[in-house]
Amino acid sequence: MLTAIYPGSFDPITNGHLDVIGRASRLADRLVVGVLSNSNKNAMYEIEERVEMTREAVRGYSNIEVTHFDGLLVEFAEREGARIIVRGIRAISDYEFELQMALMNRRLRPELETVFLMAAEQYSFVSSRIIKEVARLGGNIGGMVPPHVEARLRARFSKEPTP
Ligand code: PNS
Repeated sequence: MLTAIYPGSFDPITNGHLDVIGRASRLADRLVVGVLSNSNKNAMYEIEERVEMTREAVRGYSNIEVTHFDGLLVEFAEREGARIIVRGIRAISDYEFELQMALMNRRLRPELETVFLMAAEQYSFVSSRIIKEVARLGGNIGGMVPPHVEARLRARFSKEPTP
């Protein structure tokens, strides 16, 4: 049985992430989506909310689990019995950092393989950071995040006082 890990901050999950998840779920027998809880990026959503939104987004898949992790990714992968780390690549600009992480993870655990998957081109410009910015400024984020995430973002930003 091949277990793969798809790690990330998922702050929040986007349709680009979901596209990669769909592809990875067809490659692995079991896919564990790992939501990083101790990110040094300042997450907008608490870990519980990020896990909940991600779980809701993958409800239709029978071979996907969503859980949170902190500490080293390679140790999390080992605990889950994974042999593969999946990461999505959008543009060449993602490659440099992804290569650095993949090589460091290989140095730490040579038996773990990182596999890069290309998200569908319609999501090549979608990132959690840009989604939050557009949502905060009242722009339309429909079709770029799952409906329940869109609703949460709207609710979050409509509560904020307008400057
Ligand atoms: O969605 P992101 O923020 O691009 O995901 C980054 C993530 C979670 C994959 C990365 O920060 C990570 O693996 N963090 C865990 C700590 C770790 O193992 N660091 C060394 C990897 S080089």
